[in-house]
Amino acid sequence: MSAILPLYPLENPMPKASADAPIGIFDSGIGGLSVAQEIALYLPNERIVYYADTAHVPYGPRTDQDIRELTAHAIEWLYRQGCKVAVVACNTASAFSLDYLREHYGENFPIIGLVPALKPAVLQSKSKVVSVLATPATFRGQLIKDVMTRFAEPANVEVITVTNLELVPFVESGRYNTLECKQSLQKVLDPIVEKGSDYLVLGCTHYPYLKQSIQELYGEKLNLIDSGLAVARQTARILIKNGLASSSPQNDGVRLQCYVSGGNANALKMVLNHLIQEKITWSIENIAEKLG
Ligand code: DGL
Repeated sequence: MSAILPLYPLENPMPKASADAPIGIFDSGIGGLSVAQEIALYLPNERIVYYADTAHVPYGPRTDQDIRELTAHAIEWLYRQGCKVAVVACNTASAFSLDYLREHYGENFPIIGLVPALKPAVLQSKSKVVSVLATPATFRGQLIKDVMTRFAEPANVEVITVTNLELVPFVESGRYNTLECKQSLQKVLDPIVEKGSDYLVLGCTHYPYLKQSIQELYGEKLNLIDSGLAVARQTARILIKNGLASSSPQNDGVRLQCYVSGGNANALKMVLNHLIQEKITWSIENIAEKLG
């Protein structure tokens, strides 16, 4: 693996963040908002700075090194905003970056990552056939291979892996409940249902927004599992362990500040209006010019 140059020298670290600082959350695009919302609901005292690298989405078809570098730059941006921890709310980015990021920041800046939630699917499957839908890059990474070896193999559960690069653009453009999107889903999900899969792990943070479409297509035949709540719980544990949990309720001000690196912020605003629950106050800003 070639080295990644940090944006700022390590001898110039940020002052240690306090419990009042926001949680930083990153995804290649707006899919990670599925995780950000779980965190916002589970931790009502916390503020969130969300960074979507919409100039470079999707990450799924990119090379390992490309994904690692884009992720390193995004996390450095969150660190420079004064965030107290970072959540890599993207399975694809996590697959290639967690080791590097943890080594780079050490205890100064805890990093929370994601891996497709295979364990609960394996434990609950009756047919002993489960499927994981994720990007090709996620399946190339070691994290998913490790969970398969740890949980699926000892339980004798067959794991079917499926990818579909059309799905992330459907979510990014707000077309996740359309007929076109459902037809695209059917291309990969009909075969796994035929093979007897009773659980589908949504191994990309964009996919929870496809739940309604998948349920309309397959009903109870396919149980859906995502990582959102587990990540929110893990974030709570890490905050408490590091003495960084906020104790005062966030009743005023914007709780979820979204920043995007490209694209049309107005068009994204329309999509976010549908994606983000009403009780969470949010804002969006395109920072392409500020990033240089
Ligand atoms: N949301 C990302 C994930 O969880 C992937 C989207 C992309 O391909 O950029 O894997």
